[in-house]
Amino acid sequence: MCGIVGYIGQRRAYDILIQGLHRLEYRGYDSSGVAIINEEGSLNIYKSKGKVEALEHYAENKDLSGNIGIAHTRWATHGEPNDINAHPHCSESGRIAMVHNGTIENYSVLKEALSNKGYTFVSQTDTEVAVQLIEYIMQTNNCSAFEAVKEATKRIVGAYAIAVVDRQNPNTIIAARQSSPLVIGVGEDEYFIASDATPIIEYTNKVVYLNDGEIAVINRGEELKVYDCKSADESKIEITELQMSIEELEKGGYPHFMLKEIFEQPRTLADCISGRISADGKQVTLSGIIEHKDIFLNTNRIIIVACGTSWHAALIGKHLIEDFCRIPVVVEYASEFRYSNPVITKGDVLIALSQSGETADTLAALEKAKSAGAFVFGICNVIGSSIPRATDSGCYIHVGPEIGVASTKAFTGQVTVLAMMSLLIGQMKGTISDSKLQEIASDIRRVPTLIKEIFKLNDQIQELAKIFTYAHNFLYLGRGYNYPSALEGALKLKEISYIHAEGYPAAEMKHGTIALIDNDMPSVVIAIKDNVYEKTVSNIQQVKARGGKVVAIVTEGDTIVSQMADYVLEVPQISECLTPLLTAIPLQLLAYYIAVNKGRNVDQPRNLAKSVTVE
Ligand code: M6R
Repeated sequence: MCGIVGYIGQRRAYDILIQGLHRLEYRGYDSSGVAIINEEGSLNIYKSKGKVEALEHYAENKDLSGNIGIAHTRWATHGEPNDINAHPHCSESGRIAMVHNGTIENYSVLKEALSNKGYTFVSQTDTEVAVQLIEYIMQTNNCSAFEAVKEATKRIVGAYAIAVVDRQNPNTIIAARQSSPLVIGVGEDEYFIASDATPIIEYTNKVVYLNDGEIAVINRGEELKVYDCKSADESKIEITELQMSIEELEKGGYPHFMLKEIFEQPRTLADCISGRISADGKQVTLSGIIEHKDIFLNTNRIIIVACGTSWHAALIGKHLIEDFCRIPVVVEYASEFRYSNPVITKGDVLIALSQSGETADTLAALEKAKSAGAFVFGICNVIGSSIPRATDSGCYIHVGPEIGVASTKAFTGQVTVLAMMSLLIGQMKGTISDSKLQEIASDIRRVPTLIKEIFKLNDQIQELAKIFTYAHNFLYLGRGYNYPSALEGALKLKEISYIHAEGYPAAEMKHGTIALIDNDMPSVVIAIKDNVYEKTVSNIQQVKARGGKVVAIVTEGDTIVSQMADYVLEVPQISECLTPLLTAIPLQLLAYYIAVNKGRNVDQPRNLAKSVTVE
């Protein structure tokens, strides 16, 4: 959580920092702040509770001059969201300022030790402890901020990406990372620091991804230097060229990123598929798998770890892989897996599924499996993020930056990659016939066009949303491939509208949940024509018999469900295993319009942040 930005160069730092904070606001929006050293050597810090806009308002008419600075947008962990707990935090003397993304686990021990030495603290944050520690080291060791930060990283336990400025040295920013992302943009006589590349792309496409345990010294007008914090050895700098455009980071005329991202799906899925399925549908290519063919041919088990929406995609992946590869698949919440005692053997393959590639629990689960000898494979969206860098192999979903906190296009991208993956492994193992592979691969190629067809439901869904805006509870029901779709539909509604919703396997409902059904408890039932269609029809009848309202998502031309459901949304016919790619669209739109009707902040729902880089 939290986004950090830094700048050193010739331009006015404030403008770049603020613009960068807007780009990173999806990571946290409880409070924000900037620290800038001006020409006279004053360190000006402005902070404000709330969104970046509130900070801009607060900073109006203040001294915003200076061409070196750091900034932060916060998702609160230690201490409530208020002005005092907002970053940047300052050392007691006012000399050092720091921004931090992550959590310092031993902060209370460090705080006590520093308190005993006479340090006082104004905030409740772990970050203030770290910045005081840095100044304490500078004073006791009589060293530079760089030496002090390096030493502090040896005493701090936890996750951090930090940027530090020293009022007495206005030509240097120090940055370091451990388990939280940090990217340095390399411009002409200027450098940018950010939690991800989105604040950097409009200035330069050359970036350096800092590795865990590294510290960077960014000196004005000099070459970037990166060192290993422990050994102090200089690291070889690898400059990566970003493949990202600014248009991808803008709303492009849509009122919200979420709506833009929903409507982008025909293109993002075309990008995801591009070059991976031959025109005749006979061949699937995913180099991350082909290069490790023996591993996938010989594995006896695949474990998929993920959180939230990615976990729902993983459940669909289980069906796909078991159906087409006949390999047993276990899907685990990463947060549970990392603290459990799983039996992992060398022949296991662990797939870490994550849009951001930064989710702390998924990363930790991956590390656990890796150290137990499993082959670890990543399926991520954000290029260069921590998970792809920690895995043995993987493939990107290539759906472009997802900025709305509610995941939409990443979900369909993940399912698409899992589908292609299962076809490829199935083909390698001979567990899928050529004709079946060709049928499904060709259907994957049709998905973007079919999704465009589904967008014709937009007005109908908008009307439907009006009817249900004031519901207090919702049930989402589905079976087989679309049970995870029901979970995902419920999560979408919950997180952006704050309406309570539960996803259930439709048949499981009668073991308890059915007691909730009445006229005030609408059910969204995914009742497409699949191998359990008749069973789902019975479940709808059970709901109707108890006075429940039913919104059904059905296959085009369905005449049975339309007679019993109150409202029907039709999606085109496609191979059963791909139906979640189509049913996802009306579920996303329904949640979106209900949330808009309720006046919610769709892109930045309360209490949430896009990347969950804390436990
Ligand atoms: O970046 P990840 O895919 O690892 O994120 C996992 C979850 O935090 C994420 O899917 C979350 O549940 C979304 N807000 C759902 O829309």
